[in-house]
Amino acid sequence: MQLLENPIGVFDSGVGGLSVLRAMREQMPNESVIYFGDQGHVPYGPRSMEQIQKFSEGITHFLLEQNSKLIVVACNTASAAALKYLRGRFPEVPFVGMEPAVKPAAEITKTGKVGVLATPATFQGALYASVVERFGAGVEFFQHTCPGLVGQIEKGELESNATRAILEDALLPMLEKNIDTVVLGCTHYPFVIPLIERIVGRECSGDRPSSLGGETGQTSA
Ligand code: DGL
Repeated sequence: MQLLENPIGVFDSGVGGLSVLRAMREQMPNESVIYFGDQGHVPYGPRSMEQIQKFSEGITHFLLEQNSKLIVVACNTASAAALKYLRGRFPEVPFVGMEPAVKPAAEITKTGKVGVLATPATFQGALYASVVERFGAGVEFFQHTCPGLVGQIEKGELESNATRAILEDALLPMLEKNIDTVVLGCTHYPFVIPLIERIVGRECSGDRPSSLGGETGQTSA
């Protein structure tokens, strides 16, 4: 298989963006890709917008030095905090970012109640407020930041009791409110879909993070 020459640069705070990379590989098998996981600074979620912008700018410089022709910010948190900033700093570079899949969730919910799991920085960013305003009319959203979950996933603890406890804290109160759809608003979270399915039951739908401006990825759990 002949790989196309200049790579697509992809970055995340850690392993989360690998869930995006997996989808890219399926859809664009001929593209060469360079992946940067900023495991020296993970998690990004509790950090300030300025800090996340600084890290994202440094990583962008590195990926451009590797001749990246396009950069995928495979992280909802970095997209929320830094996508606009990066587009301003590097006007000649095309960036693709993530936003929580609020739109497909609002379209498929039957109870009109949707749970959203994402990091504090993602919820604070203007991007989240904007997708809820644009696509969430008539739907009630229940948000949770799942403290510690990104760290558990980085450690590879996808099934442990501690990971389960974090997810139960987030999801059980939402189930009591009658949610029927869960938005995974962090690219780390698809790695714990099997555990989430066991907590919420298979009739609850899980939406994967979607790409900004592109088609939304969606999976029925
Ligand atoms: N994978 C990330 C996201 O999509 C980052 C989480 C973190 O570093 O806190 O938000």
